Amino acid sequence: MATDFTEETAADAVVESFALSTDPRLREILTSLVRHVHAFARDVELTIPEWEFAIDFLTRTGQKCDDKRQEFILLSDVLGVSMLTETISNRKFGVATESTVLGPFHVVESPVRALGDSIDSVGTGTPCVVTGRVVSTRGTPLPGATLDVWQANDEGFYDVQQPGVQEIGNGRGLFTADAAGAFWFRTIVPRYYPIPVDGPVGELLRATGRHSFRPAHIHFIVTAPGHRDLTTHMFVAGSEYIESDTVFAVKKSLVVDFSPVDDPALAEKWGVPVPFRHADFTITMQPEP
Ligand code: BEZ
Ligand code: FE
Repeated sequence: MATDFTEETAADAVVESFALSTDPRLREILTSLVRHVHAFARDVELTIPEWEFAIDFLTRTGQKCDDKRQEFILLSDVLGVSMLTETISNRKFGVATESTVLGPFHVVESPVRALGDSIDSVGTGTPCVVTGRVVSTRGTPLPGATLDVWQANDEGFYDVQQPGVQEIGNGRGLFTADAAGAFWFRTIVPRYYPIPVDGPVGELLRATGRHSFRPAHIHFIVTAPGHRDLTTHMFVAGSEYIESDTVFAVKKSLVVDFSPVDDPALAEKWGVPVPFRHADFTITMQPEP
């Protein structure tokens, strides 16, 4: 242990203090954290008022958290750390569908719905049919796969954000793929929306001239026996903010055309008015090791 603190020896002294840790992974993480944080403080020549500001910012971030609001996750989201962790943990495996963030709105159970049902009970917005198939990277269909879907409405709000306007369960559905691994449901085209900005994260966005928007998307959690669970989104091609998602969650492979359709026969087949949009999403699941 160093007896004389200097800028040059500080990181080594703290790292050495973990030498007796019996958990090797904890030691690895703390060693790297200390080296990076010390390097950062030296690099920017951190001042005492800046250190005090950071402590206050993090304190207020914690104070903003409750059972419905997680400001620390939001902070991780806007700094790109959530997506980086997600991407490290789910490295792309061949042709498997890519994952993306879960987000904070998967907070109520999705109602169980039959294939072809509508997840929208409000009736405003552009009608839309989503179809797709769940398959394995081995090429076989995955009958019985479950698809938990949730989305914002045409004004960019989730059901839990609009009590009295949307009933709980609006914009959500739990579907089971058919014997061929196919799924289909009706909905409305979701709109882009802002993440919550009434806390320290909003302050950070404003202070850095950043917008708070996420491009339009539909969330999916897909499960299939023998395969890794997949948390992902289907992004609406051409949506505002598709190039600048404030939580950095867009992967090109997840951007899907919501094509306009004006064929009355197709509208009748799906039970939607004309014109409507059609989006098709093939979900390719990675077998468990
Ligand atoms: C969402 O897509 O629901 C979301 C993700 C990250 C932060 C805020 C919202
Ligand atoms: Fe979302």
